[in-house]
Amino acid sequence: MQTTRSLDIWAQWILHRRHGSDPQRLQAMLAHLYPIRDRVLSQARCDDASVLLDIGCGDGLIAFGALEKSASCRVIFSDISQDLLDHAARLAVQMRLDGRCTFVRASADDLHEIADASVDAVTTRSVLIYVLAKQRAFEEFHRVLRPKGRLSIFEPINRFGEPQPDHMFWGFDVTPVAPIAAKLKDFYRRLLPLDSNPMMNFDERDLIAWAEAAGFRDVHLELQVTITPLSSQPDMPASWTTYLRSAANPKCPTFEEAMAQVLTPAERATFEAHLRPRVEAKEGTFRSAVAYLWATK
Ligand SMILES: C[S@@+](CC[C@H](N)C(=O)[O-])C[C@H]1O[C@@H](n2cnc3c(N)ncnc32)[C@H](O)[C@@H]1O
Repeated sequence: MQTTRSLDIWAQWILHRRHGSDPQRLQAMLAHLYPIRDRVLSQARCDDASVLLDIGCGDGLIAFGALEKSASCRVIFSDISQDLLDHAARLAVQMRLDGRCTFVRASADDLHEIADASVDAVTTRSVLIYVLAKQRAFEEFHRVLRPKGRLSIFEPINRFGEPQPDHMFWGFDVTPVAPIAAKLKDFYRRLLPLDSNPMMNFDERDLIAWAEAAGFRDVHLELQVTITPLSSQPDMPASWTTYLRSAANPKCPTFEEAMAQVLTPAERATFEAHLRPRVEAKEGTFRSAVAYLWATK
C-alpha cells in the first residue's frame, strides 16, 4: 500500500487534498458530483454494446457510473496518473467489474494507444482545464470515435470569477483586511496567470470553437452560471481546518500552505481572525460557471 507522500500529485489531490482529508466533505462533494456525472453520461448516450473512453478518469467517477448504469458496456479508463489508474483498477476488482474495464495511461492530447474509430463515446469531466493543447485534445477525441460517436464534456469556466474585486476574496467580503487579501490574490495570480494557465485561459466559446474545428458536427453547449449564498452550497467546507487543508486543484498549494508562503505570522493571525468566522458561518457568495458540451462525430 502506498503512503500519501509517495502518490503522484493527481492521486494525492483526488484522494486527499481536494477535500482536506475530511470524509464528510468528501460525501458532500460526491453528492454534488453525482448529478454532473449522470448528465455527462446521459449525453454520451451509451447502450449495453457501447465502448466508452473516459479521459482523465481520476478515481473513476464517470467510468464506474457508466459500468453501473449498463449491464454490459465496456469502459476504457484513461489518465496521465498511473497511481489513479492503479487505484481504479483495484476498485474494479473489488466490485467485480474488471472484466469490462481496460486501463490506459495517456494524455488527453496524445491518445496514440487508442486506435482510430474504436470507441462509441468519449467523456471528460474537469480534465481539459489541465491540458494546454486543447485543440489537439479535441482532434484526438474525434479521431478515436467511430462515425456517429458521441463526445460529452463537463468543464468549469474558471475565469468567470476573475478578476475578483479588491474587497472580495473567494466569495468573502474582506474589506477590513483587503491589503492582506491582495497579497494572497497576487500569489494565486502569479501561480495561475489568466492569459496562459490552462485552467484560466479559456471560456465556453473556445470549447465550441475547438469542437467545431476538430470536425464535430451537431455541437451543443450549455453554460450554467450560479451566483448564490455560500450557505446554499453543502459541498463548501464550514470547518476552518478543512478550509485550510483544501486545495482548489492539484497544482495549487492548500490555503494553509499559501498563507504560510506569503503572509507574516501577524498577517496570518489578522486574516484568520477576519475570515474564519465567515467561513464557519458560510457568510459569503458562491460564484461559478460550468459548461456541458456534447457533440456527435
Ligand atoms: C479534477 S480530476 C477529474 C477526475 C474525473 N474525471 C472525475 O470526474 O472525478 C482531473 C483528472 O485529470 C487527469 N489529468 C490531468 N491532466 C491530464 C491530461 N493531460 N490528460 C489526461 N488526464 C489528465 C488527472 O490525473 C485527474 O485524474
